[in-house]
Amino acid sequence: MPNALLRMVVAVGGLAVSGAAFADDNVINLGMILPMTGPSASTGKQEQAGAMLYMQQHGDVVAGKKIVLIVKDDTGAPDVTKRIAEELIGNDKAKALLGFGLTPLALAVAPVATEAKVPEIVTAAGTAMITEKSPFIARTSFTLPQAAQPMAEWALKNNIKKVVTVVTDYGPGVDAEKWFSEPFTKGGGQVVEKIRVPLKNPDFAPFLQRVKDDAPDAVFVFVPSGFGAAFMKQFVDRGLDKSGVKLIGTGDVTDDDLLPQMGEAALGAITTHHYSAAHDSPENKTFVADFEKANDGMRPNFMAVGAYDGMALIYHALEATKGSTDGEALIAAMKGAKWISPRGPVSIDPDTRDIVQNIYVRKVDKVDGKLFNVEFDKVEAVKDPFKAAGN
Ligand code: PHB
Repeated sequence: MPNALLRMVVAVGGLAVSGAAFADDNVINLGMILPMTGPSASTGKQEQAGAMLYMQQHGDVVAGKKIVLIVKDDTGAPDVTKRIAEELIGNDKAKALLGFGLTPLALAVAPVATEAKVPEIVTAAGTAMITEKSPFIARTSFTLPQAAQPMAEWALKNNIKKVVTVVTDYGPGVDAEKWFSEPFTKGGGQVVEKIRVPLKNPDFAPFLQRVKDDAPDAVFVFVPSGFGAAFMKQFVDRGLDKSGVKLIGTGDVTDDDLLPQMGEAALGAITTHHYSAAHDSPENKTFVADFEKANDGMRPNFMAVGAYDGMALIYHALEATKGSTDGEALIAAMKGAKWISPRGPVSIDPDTRDIVQNIYVRKVDKVDGKLFNVEFDKVEAVKDPFKAAGN
């Protein structure tokens, strides 16, 4: 839809909504909990903007009910996330929760979701086992095994024989390390060192010196969204960009939010991930244009898409239940849901409640003078390998 037309439809829809009176039981509150401050604040900002864009494009009435999105800052502290979740359900009568910028924050809410029978939509975190912690969890982000395993396969096919892994030392980093290293060594590759860097106040410099000393063909990296620029700066400071060590990883390190500021050192990095702002589809072109317009030119990253699709999943479920907010009915309606996301076709695996999606192989390159993750290959409809392996 051309932008002018889209704006008109939203404006007309908005007028109709504010003109109609909604009785309290025709208002559905959704609670979004995000780190809006601290080192993962970029995730909060991107996620909030993604959810709001979905509502701007699709209106705020679903199955005759008015949707109200309540956004709260948990500062990245799990005890705060949990308390806010309880308040959103107890005081605001939220009928679904979404967001959670890091794995420990998503995990903190799992028992609350189970107890209250309220769906928890994980739109950012990526540790594989999260969805197993409550039958009320569904995920629209990704899992690290989903992205890391295809990276191992690409490395094996592209003459990379000796690798050092560097990951942030918590759930998603441990998943990334395992799901890269195991298939890579099984296929004949060698992981010469596995380095884990603390999540809090990471100083990559001493670890990168070790990588340089090991002189591998490539360094495989996972750092959470928001940390990539600091990693890249120290990569350059240690001279690794000129050392012939190739940079590979899951797409978190070349996050679209930070990539424009990373500079030439990022050029040529190969990553596997589910979303790039450069993804070539009509849905993504509209998404990126509308997102930039609504957010002062900010480029959407995979966090924005996770939240956008989290809203898509909630809207889909409410339509399927004809506006019923019964938590069991909502989660049942989410299982098997399918739609076209800005990232490509996606569905919710009815057995695991995890997203099934394409994983793209991308190379950092310049497009119109700006750095992008340019997709050049893909593995279609990837299920989370951790659960596919019977975990
Ligand atoms: C997580 O904490 O699960 C997480 C956060 C940021 C990422 C990936 C995973 O980029």
